[in-house]
Amino acid sequence: MKASLRIIAILIAISPLVAYGGGDPEFVKLPEGYENFSNYATMNRANQKQVAKLYANIAAVASHTQDDKSEAASGSIIVMEIYSPRKDADGTPIPGEDGIFEIDTLEAIAVMENRHTWGDTYSAENRTGDWGYALYDPSGMPKENDLDCVQCHTPLKGQDYMFTYQKLVDFVKNIK
Ligand code: HEC
Repeated sequence: MKASLRIIAILIAISPLVAYGGGDPEFVKLPEGYENFSNYATMNRANQKQVAKLYANIAAVASHTQDDKSEAASGSIIVMEIYSPRKDADGTPIPGEDGIFEIDTLEAIAVMENRHTWGDTYSAENRTGDWGYALYDPSGMPKENDLDCVQCHTPLKGQDYMFTYQKLVDFVKNIK
């Protein structure tokens, strides 16, 4: 009886972790100095309400320098800064000359980190292949989110689970 009460107490203690949305910040950290990674693309998000600034670290860039290699090396990190755009009086985002909305405020920072060594501690169900996920607020604290990172990224297996895969490949081609 005592033992089962203890198990219930443990389950209650860990359940907020299990229900956590916003990826797995206990595994995927916000990389320090990511602003110095390669800014391989800046684009309006698919929702047409926000702007994404995309960064790849050296390992991620190096993964695509050989034409025959399409998957990220262990240690690759992709960071997506999510900005709200400046809006006009009607609340419509204001596009710049290139069509990309003018940036207003940093709202969140999404991270994908590739490790071939995650092992069993980081459940494969919460990753896409070797990519782990986490979301941070602008102050660097883990940000909760109801969205399931893995759900949307899983169908993109053919392009290393990345929506902006081609943008990264093209960026690397141009700096070669
Ligand atoms: C509703 C679908 C959806 C969900 C859920 C989702 N993403 Fe994405 N993700 C996208 C799309 C679409 C893009 C391309 C940029 C854009 O248009 O927003 C993207 C891009 C990214 C990128 C840039 C690399 C790439 O794939 O192009 C990162 C990093 C990222 N997401 C992390 C996350 C994290 C972390 C979570 C969970 C907190 C998450 N995503 C949940 C749809 C999703």
